[in-house]
Amino acid sequence: MSAVTVDFGLDLLPSEELHAVLADLREAHRVAPVRFFGTEAVLVTRFDDVKEAFRDDEHLPGGATYQMHTEPVIGRTFISMDGTEHDRHRQLATPAFRSRAVAQFDEEALVPLAHEIVDRFVARGEADLVAEFTTVLPFYAITRKLGVPRGTDDEMRTWADRMLTYPSDPEGAVGAARAFSDVLEPLLDARRAAPEEDLLSALLAAEVDGEALDREEVCSTVRLMFSVGATTTSHALGNMLSALLDRPELLERARADEPLRAGIVHELLRWDGPLATLPRLAPLGAQFGDETFPPGTLLLFGIASANRDPSVWDDPARFDPTRDPQEIVTFGFGQKFCPGSHLARRQLLTALGVLLDRLPGLRLADPHGATPVGGVLRHPTALHVVWDLK
Ligand code: HEM
Repeated sequence: MSAVTVDFGLDLLPSEELHAVLADLREAHRVAPVRFFGTEAVLVTRFDDVKEAFRDDEHLPGGATYQMHTEPVIGRTFISMDGTEHDRHRQLATPAFRSRAVAQFDEEALVPLAHEIVDRFVARGEADLVAEFTTVLPFYAITRKLGVPRGTDDEMRTWADRMLTYPSDPEGAVGAARAFSDVLEPLLDARRAAPEEDLLSALLAAEVDGEALDREEVCSTVRLMFSVGATTTSHALGNMLSALLDRPELLERARADEPLRAGIVHELLRWDGPLATLPRLAPLGAQFGDETFPPGTLLLFGIASANRDPSVWDDPARFDPTRDPQEIVTFGFGQKFCPGSHLARRQLLTALGVLLDRLPGLRLADPHGATPVGGVLRHPTALHVVWDLK
């Protein structure tokens, strides 16, 4: 496949192919012509440019892109806002995602939750970890954090996945958002009448400068957390396990060497994160060096490309958890820097610890599906593994 005809929205792009294409594009172009779901787009390939593009709220605000792709399903939330309106709403919606709140949540809820999920299949000695673990933990984590009663988690997960299909299946996505609200609305009434120690109650009570989120905004914020937060984290978990199962000696080292695990998480987020490219409309046009792009250009922020820029990392294709943990662009930068980054990192670390603890001799039984695919969100489709029964 010639690099310039790559369609990042439609092509499968398994790991080696994606990174080979990105290496060619990055070397030849600071900003490369590519395709995205059949239309023309340009890919920002190098670390400094991607970082700067994320930070340039003035010329490349993110709101307009999310108004097109996210707002029709999720509703109006801070992700589709810019400027001070964005900042005020983000402040209302995100206190529960700060580092300390997440550490407390990890001890109280995340570790037991990961064990509870493993309990379901541990005695079998084999599983598809994508179907039974990586796509389950992040969704359950958010339902627990919100205070949604057990029993609805699996339905919530199906709806969250469907909400993301808006570009290809608008009716299905909007229907899923409605089903989501039908479960949420009675819960909101209950929490308003009798607040509890959960995120739903916190969202209902939050105020900034005397302003609170209205009921529809609380619903929309919850839909947002599910669709953008849980799905990305599921994919990151899948990619991390895929990289480790492909390196049995590193997996065994991680069993014995607990401090190495944080390095594995950081290196995975650099080496093959869940979001390879991020689309951003340039409403005012864009400029990179002497290249200018007219208003309305669709830029793809090349996260996967920037994170393997050889001017920043020595031998960037090597998976090396002992590298100095340098800045990566995986969670964006500036005004829209991911508010869920602490929660995502915690889930990766906790999941790794629990799987190593519970599944001795964990190894790949069948490589089918184990390589991450996708030019926007990327992840393995299956991880068929076995382990030793105690
Ligand atoms: C490994 C997992 C994750 C990755 C790679 C990731 C990546 C990102 C990136 C790149 C952005 C910036 C988007 C932009 O500039 O347009 C972002 C924003 C966002 N992320 Fe994450 N994310 C992850 C997990 C989460 C989690 C767990 C949550 C919450 C539960 C979350 C919620 C959000 C929200 C609400 C925004 C919008 C922020 C704003 O508009 O101010 N993310 N994420």
